[in-house]
Amino acid sequence: MKSNPGPRGDRAAHDAGASDPHGHRPVLLGEIVELLVPISGESVIDLTAGRGGHAVALGASVGASGTLTLFDRDPANLAYACARVSAMPAAPRIQSVHADFRSVALMMPGGTPPANAVLADLGFASTQVDDPSRGLAFSHDGPLDMRLDPTRGETAAQLVARLDERELADIIFHYGEDPFARRIAKNIAQTRARVPISTTGQLASLVRESYGARAAASRLHPATRTFMALRIAVNDELGALEGLVAAVRDAALAAASGSPTWLAAGARVAIMSFHSLEDRIVKRAFAQVIEAGWAESLTRKPVEASPAEVGANPRARSAKLRAIKLVR
Ligand SMILES: C[S@@+](CC[C@H](N)C(=O)[O-])C[C@H]1O[C@@H](n2cnc3c(N)ncnc32)[C@H](O)[C@@H]1O
Repeated sequence: MKSNPGPRGDRAAHDAGASDPHGHRPVLLGEIVELLVPISGESVIDLTAGRGGHAVALGASVGASGTLTLFDRDPANLAYACARVSAMPAAPRIQSVHADFRSVALMMPGGTPPANAVLADLGFASTQVDDPSRGLAFSHDGPLDMRLDPTRGETAAQLVARLDERELADIIFHYGEDPFARRIAKNIAQTRARVPISTTGQLASLVRESYGARAAASRLHPATRTFMALRIAVNDELGALEGLVAAVRDAALAAASGSPTWLAAGARVAIMSFHSLEDRIVKRAFAQVIEAGWAESLTRKPVEASPAEVGANPRARSAKLRAIKLVR
């Protein structure tokens, strides 16, 4: 998941993968394949390979004569998805790229045919949130890490130690929409003056304390929003998405002017988000390329999961899928 425990809570994200042997159920799978219409021999990019749920379906459509390029920030998920697709009968040519998708234009391996279809399924996989060592969930105690790419970057513990109280409050308020953001940030600042905040359990109980008597009345665990906000900040998730939509926009302009680019003529691009701030970025960027005449919309309104899918996979509840097709 998509990605975020978000206001739905970690429990929902956990349950979403529990009944899938790969630890994560792909969201809106049929709808994505229908929108991207990958066909035999095409070149497809899955920018968020995760546990390979979407990648297997995309790989089966392009077949042995096609190319599937898999990106993920998380090397373990990337390796898992690549192995899963490779084991398919008539597997496509697979290329594995351990990178942030904002660098897609630079990181496409040399000689890759321009992409006919591209998918980004934002956020994190259920297996990531379920692993206490990743520090993504308040429901398990573990190191306060939260990095989707554990090989680089600042951990949540380092971020919480470095930012001033006001910056922390802004992050918790803007990304987590937590009404108690200022109080939580103050409590963090007072606590870290005495002892470093280095575990998820410490942070979760500190947030609960900040809620005071209102914790009992809260439908969600009080730490839900703070954890989501810090995860978004640690991974610069909105910056990564802005980078990706800029790369799509630049490629759409290049394609419209007949210049070579990483997207093929008529390429389809689908982005599935799980947070209103992400959806806003995608909506605006797609509107710009459509208005410029470089692409047409494939989704008049964002596609959402059916009640049946949400019933089977609570994580699908906040999914919003938007797609465009380059006109040239
Ligand atoms: C929701 S999961 C994808 C699940 C996948 N579609 C499946 O069916 O198994 C999102 C994945 O994207 C990765 N990810 C998140 N942000 C990323 C970024 N900016 N660049 C590359 N990978 C990213 C996460 O590490 C995670 O493995």
